[in-house]
Amino acid sequence: MAVKWVRLELDLDAFDDARFEPYLQRCRQAGIEFTTMAAVGDTVEHRRALYDLNKTCSADIPERGEFYTFDEYVAQRIETPTYDPEGVVLALDCGSWVGMATTSIHPEGHAFSEMTGLLAGHRGRGISLAMKVLAIGFARSHGVHLLRTFHHPDNAAAIGMNRRLGFVNDEPRVAAT
Ligand SMILES: CC(C)(COP(=O)(O)OP(=O)(O)OC[C@H]1O[C@@H](n2cnc3c(N)ncnc32)[C@H](O)[C@@H]1OP(=O)(O)O)[C@@H](O)C(=O)NCCC(=O)NCCS
Repeated sequence: MAVKWVRLELDLDAFDDARFEPYLQRCRQAGIEFTTMAAVGDTVEHRRALYDLNKTCSADIPERGEFYTFDEYVAQRIETPTYDPEGVVLALDCGSWVGMATTSIHPEGHAFSEMTGLLAGHRGRGISLAMKVLAIGFARSHGVHLLRTFHHPDNAAAIGMNRRLGFVNDEPRVAAT
């Protein structure tokens, strides 16, 4: 049976950063550092590290299936018109990459939350919320007003995390007649 994806959207104009600032503060106090792919350098070595992190986290996405090879990942997720190393937020713990949140900007006028993932041992500490706040800042800096994403219906953690930020169901819009 076809998967009925849970499509979500967040109104960036209504998003209140201040409500989520404590998550960023708590993570930083706990020694988590936030940076971006652009800041660390969009090098082959860092693309490989991003791939490894993405692959590990994606293993927990329900029905994700086999992950890309590195070459496929570069071709389909990095060397694309919407990839922007500024839009790749990274969470580091003692220098090790433990989390990622990637966002792309689309010509239709919205941003898309591509992949948010934390290594299993780092989950449940608000790190993904903190990364998403930074991702929202990236989206806003491009003048977009809407952030979209979709998830497998069994991905309770991802859906819960996004609803916690204020994402609501992305209902198909019916044109007025
Ligand atoms: C989805 C994922 C990134 C969440 O990361 P996390 O670090 O555990 O999330 P946080 O600690 O920041 O939790 C944020 C909020 O999500 C919600 N949440 C987290 N886990 C949840 C769960 N299992 N069920 C329901 N809600 C959940 C909570 O509301 C939580 O906020 P609160 O603690 O203030 O109540 C993580 O589970 C993950 O990496 N999963 C595998 C990869 C994946 O599925 N990514 C999404 C597809 S792109």
